Amino acid sequence: MQIENKEFWEIGDVIEVQDRNKAASNHELFLFEKAKLLFGSIDAVNTIKIFGCGTGREVNQIANFFNPNKIIASDISNNMIEKCNKNLTEWKINEITETKVINAKDYKSDSIFDLVTILNSMLTYVSEKKDRTQIFNNAYQILKKNGVIIGTVHNQEGTFLKTMYFKIKNLFSFYYGDKVGNRMTGYNGYKVEGYYYAKKVLFQDLQNASFKSIEIYSLDEYHQLIDIKYNRKKGYNNLIFVAQK
Ligand SMILES: C[S@@+](CC[C@H](N)C(=O)[O-])C[C@H]1O[C@@H](n2cnc3c(N)ncnc32)[C@H](O)[C@@H]1O
Repeated sequence: MQIENKEFWEIGDVIEVQDRNKAASNHELFLFEKAKLLFGSIDAVNTIKIFGCGTGREVNQIANFFNPNKIIASDISNNMIEKCNKNLTEWKINEITETKVINAKDYKSDSIFDLVTILNSMLTYVSEKKDRTQIFNNAYQILKKNGVIIGTVHNQEGTFLKTMYFKIKNLFSFYYGDKVGNRMTGYNGYKVEGYYYAKKVLFQDLQNASFKSIEIYSLDEYHQLIDIKYNRKKGYNNLIFVAQK
């Protein structure tokens, strides 16, 4: 069944799947370390904005790693935030964390954050180019000078079938335009329109939002960097990124 983005993330068993995983992946820890390097020290990271926090998995991981004074975590789904609030209380990080139900494209604030995160491919579920652009612009706006953004997106290159699908679509980019990376995704029998990035388009999107020091790695490249064998044809091959204001 095909449904809209917000509708999908309000569904109980979709939330239950998200809530099963409580860990941070190695590539997320790598991004945390990259951010730390850009700041010079963890002590410089006091205020953090998390987009697409879901049931709070990375809120806990980020709180543990950076030990910030304040986190504002938001998500498009009321039910995700309801579950997130319960988890935050259980993990005893509810006092430093404020949650908010809001579409990331509508989030506005003064430039108060040291770090902005858009992890676990929230942007995959933002199928319109103008909305992705708005989200990167918002992220830039709410960061302090020299603040850092980290994130992950789905990649057009991965398993053989997916890579071929997008290679063929790219041949017809004159027809598809900004929708060249769009493909249906979802789980538990539900289908939502998703967006898969090509590395050069992600670079352009970050650059157009005025970010500097942009670094992007596919999971394949990340594993080469840390000298671990990884078969991208079998696993995910997300793009991970870090950039600075
Ligand atoms: C794959 S889940 C990841 C959740 C969480 N970050 C994690 O890693 O467990 C993607 C999340 O993005 C949220 N989301 C999707 N589109 C969004 C949007 N436009 N604005 C804010 N949140 C959004 C969904 O509700 C969902 O919680």
